[in-house]
Amino acid sequence: MNLPTKISARCLELRQLIAHHNHCYHTLDAPEISDAAYDQLFRELVELEETYPQLLTPDSPSQRVGSAPLDHFTKVHHEVPMLSLDNLFTEVALAEFHQRIRETLGLDGGEEVVMVAEPKLDGLAVSLLYEQGVLVRAATRGDGQVGEEVTAHLRTIRSAPLRLLGEGVPDLLEVRGEVFIPLDDFEKMNEQLRQAEEKPFANPRNAAAGSLRQLDPKITAARPLDIYIHGLGQVSDGALPPTQSEIYQQLKLWGLPVSDDWRVVTGVAGCFDYYQELQARREQLPFEVDGVVYKVERVGWQRRLGFVARAPRWAVAHKFPAQEAETTVNDIEIQVGRTGALTPVARLEPVNVSGVVVTNATLHNFQELERKDVRVGDRVRVRRAGDVIPEVVGVVLAHRSEGSQPFPRPSHCPVCHSEAVISEGEVVIRCPAGLSCPAQCKEAIRHFASRKAMNIDGLGEKIVELLLNEGMIGSVADLYRLAEKRQQLAALMGLGEKSVDNLFKAIEESKKRDLGRFLFALGIRDVGEATARNLADHFETLEALLGATPEALLGVGEVGPVVAERVGGFFQREENRAIVEQLAQVVDTGWHRAAVREVSQKPLAGQTVVITGSLEKMTRREAKARLEGLGAKVSGSISKRTRYLVAGEKPGSKLTKAQALGVAVLDEAAFLKLLGEIAT
Ligand code: IVH
Repeated sequence: MNLPTKISARCLELRQLIAHHNHCYHTLDAPEISDAAYDQLFRELVELEETYPQLLTPDSPSQRVGSAPLDHFTKVHHEVPMLSLDNLFTEVALAEFHQRIRETLGLDGGEEVVMVAEPKLDGLAVSLLYEQGVLVRAATRGDGQVGEEVTAHLRTIRSAPLRLLGEGVPDLLEVRGEVFIPLDDFEKMNEQLRQAEEKPFANPRNAAAGSLRQLDPKITAARPLDIYIHGLGQVSDGALPPTQSEIYQQLKLWGLPVSDDWRVVTGVAGCFDYYQELQARREQLPFEVDGVVYKVERVGWQRRLGFVARAPRWAVAHKFPAQEAETTVNDIEIQVGRTGALTPVARLEPVNVSGVVVTNATLHNFQELERKDVRVGDRVRVRRAGDVIPEVVGVVLAHRSEGSQPFPRPSHCPVCHSEAVISEGEVVIRCPAGLSCPAQCKEAIRHFASRKAMNIDGLGEKIVELLLNEGMIGSVADLYRLAEKRQQLAALMGLGEKSVDNLFKAIEESKKRDLGRFLFALGIRDVGEATARNLADHFETLEALLGATPEALLGVGEVGPVVAERVGGFFQREENRAIVEQLAQVVDTGWHRAAVREVSQKPLAGQTVVITGSLEKMTRREAKARLEGLGAKVSGSISKRTRYLVAGEKPGSKLTKAQALGVAVLDEAAFLKLLGEIAT
């Protein structure tokens, strides 16, 4: 069948358009059209190819949905072996690495080696082969000599170009890179798996590996895989630049995804600075890294250095301390949270995990505990990441002792012994007793006094426990009557005059917290800091909020039916209302109104701004402070009501959402201009 020229031309145009928008979105991080508009182009192409199958080519973006299942993986021989890297762990070993290079190259004592330093991604190495600029084969590393073909799988990764762009692409170009799953996507994917009652992945690396090793590429297509290119394999002609950094720039120009985090650094000091800088940013990076890779900058020197065994002499991995360690579960206890949630916590034989001694680790909830089947006496792997509470990753079954028993679900609250409940559609088991459960009461008071709530310094866990046990307080309202019991308090706690003074001063000062903090301090379920502030800004006074109808609550920014129900329900309950009324007599939230009025005179009053990505000229915290100083409310999520999205480097999904909702997007320059214009 002869194809009408118009149709082949449109097909070509669609492919070019889709490839262009893919590049803008995935490689440049700067989409030009909405997701919906992109999907429409995509659908049009798929329909055309379905009607005219002769149009289908291996570089068609429609191939990204995943081809038919394979019955086995084909072996691929790597013409240029895929090397591994030697690891080093200390600054001394880093200095030795530099010294060895200087000696091998015969450099002067004083000459420092220039290197490219970059993140070591914790993923899966792959090779991508481009012939005449078209992706024709992808393979896993395997043992470095022989890997497995995963072409159909790699085609599903949107950031991997199916056809290279621009001038001077070698006829044969093999690039190597790391396939990984960004952390945000990993969390979302695991959440979906949990909801579908399927087994979540232990970590992003396993998830990436499991997603690639699927005989059915359609499964791979449904997984949020991404890729960064970090090196070369075979190249047909010698037209590539002479340094590693220029090679990265060139690869990026051809449309290949190269991380922007690499830097050219000089000598041991330059490398070590980069290592420390990346380690400090480790928790903020959108993907998991397990160290830094240093590569000699000059390709000529790389060749002279060559490789030994399976690793190059011109590159090395400087690993970060492990975030996982093995230890023994001494006990499993059940903690009662502020909202009554019963959380199993593993008491551990103390173990050092990347420089911090861990003695407790959360097991999240009983469903998770049962899934991992953690038992008292088990050897377990424990993991900590940043500020989050350490968690038990899994059991080392080979070390399980005979006769160990699964940990049973609690039938009663371990503190007040009320019968535990599990609500429809929830995984959490709760104690339903509310504030009459001493554990919940204690947590409620601690939350009330916490830094982001009423900020009562000096009211730590021990003191709250003691006050409750001695019957000196029974609720948060009693804190403001403690002054009457000053003598008793001092004697009881063996506190000096000064500490007692400080505590009373802190309680006194807390009477002037604004309405937002006050509402947050009440600890209404699902009312976090931001929602509390929105409620305060909207209703301005406690009386107005207490009188609000469900409809009025739903009119508040970011308040949906669940939160509206929680807020309404909280104030309807007699015991809560009584406490709030007692508090209202001593805590002066009324001044909030004056503050709101003052803010309303400001240039960005009543406007919500969201910040995403990293800014060069100021930190996000500074940007937030500047915006708030101008009366804006800075929120964490985009909605139709958002006035501006300030998008720095690597803006991620917020940018896409803003564009889809038609929210004005300011890049850093435009944002600085806005600040400048308003301030003058
Ligand atoms: S370069 C000859 N760069 O780490 C150089 N590798 O432990 C070989 N990896 O197999 C690799 N991030 O899968 C290089 N920025 C990076 C990397 C990186 C992660 C992986 C790669 C390699 C393994 C070696």
